[in-house]
Amino acid sequence: MPEMSSQPLAPATIAVTAGRPARVQGGPVNPPIVLSSTYVSQGTPGDELLYTRSGTETWQDFEAALAALEGAACPAVVMGSGMAAVAAALAAVPHGGVLVVPRHAYQVSLGFADDLAARHAVEVRRVDIADTDQVVAALDGADVALLESPTNPMLEVADLPALIAAARERGVRTVVDNTFATPLVQRPLELGADVVLHSVTKYLAGHSDVVMGALLTNDPAIEAELRGYRTLHGAIAGPMEVWLALRGLRTLHLRVERAQANAAELARRLADHPAVAEVRHPSLPADPGHDRATRLMGGYGAIIGLRPAGGAAAADAVVAALRLWVPATSLGGVESTLERRRRFATESLTVPEDLLRMSVGVEDVEDLWADLDQALRAAAA
Ligand SMILES: Cc1ncc(COP(=O)(O)O)c(C=O)c1O
Repeated sequence: MPEMSSQPLAPATIAVTAGRPARVQGGPVNPPIVLSSTYVSQGTPGDELLYTRSGTETWQDFEAALAALEGAACPAVVMGSGMAAVAAALAAVPHGGVLVVPRHAYQVSLGFADDLAARHAVEVRRVDIADTDQVVAALDGADVALLESPTNPMLEVADLPALIAAARERGVRTVVDNTFATPLVQRPLELGADVVLHSVTKYLAGHSDVVMGALLTNDPAIEAELRGYRTLHGAIAGPMEVWLALRGLRTLHLRVERAQANAAELARRLADHPAVAEVRHPSLPADPGHDRATRLMGGYGAIIGLRPAGGAAAADAVVAALRLWVPATSLGGVESTLERRRRFATESLTVPEDLLRMSVGVEDVEDLWADLDQALRAAAA
């Protein structure tokens, strides 16, 4: 990244400039993809690249760029998926230890916590992440707290500064899943979080063509622990995927800005739609997370929770009637997608049966609205 002495670079500039090769006459502007499983090496190994499961050039470029965006002191640790990142971060819970998790969070992260409970006698405490007193009480005697805000799919907003401070006082390691917010909207390491994790699959890569994860920390000892875990467990990302993710990252600020603006506008219109029972988006003044998000976040995100009038059958009918919106799981791509979350038997039972999780993309907002409006009307008829 170019050095500018007078002022720190803005996130948009970091997204475009970080992780590029050194400027040399005739050199490439983008890093090359190095497809090599091994590196020339003999004698006692030093710091050089040796074998791709433990490190490769293409990772380093992405790891530097993401660390610059999150404001991390250490390079990111890229992983084969967001779940590989969750597994690596939660490996810090000792056998017989205590893990605090949100009652609503990415369902597979919660499944992973349950698996830890079953196999390693870990006590899992599920909390309402928006209820600060409840979370702080659960931190007593805990080892690790997985914090997710806004939560998937309920969009609850946590008081991250208060929770991170309370965890630090009690010696509890905090792992913040920053997938929904992205580093453009909140940077938990600056609040004192120990680890930030991402499903890079979502906004960071941004084009629904890559599955990848990443971990970030300011603590070199934790970074070494996470890198060691990755090498031992082998959950690595391929160089092609990492290169694609870095290309996606170049437009993160543009995509997030547009998707958030689209989401806020659609949420505002949905709140007045006759075929809508409830809409959740932190941008709405009546949303339970609005005040906190306004105070703590640099945006409201681009995920909407929608409960059409008429229950789960109406929600399924809306999905079926949409033409532009893509019925699909996952989120954070340039295209708008949605799904009824309780179609998964594994989703938390406190998530309403009729909740549609909508990932708003970067299309024209009027086209998105016209499609939604006709689908809601068709489902209601
Ligand atoms: C908030 C959140 N964290 C983690 C994950 C897991 O990421 P991946 O699917 O890349 O393994 C997801 C996936 O949907 C997610 O939404």
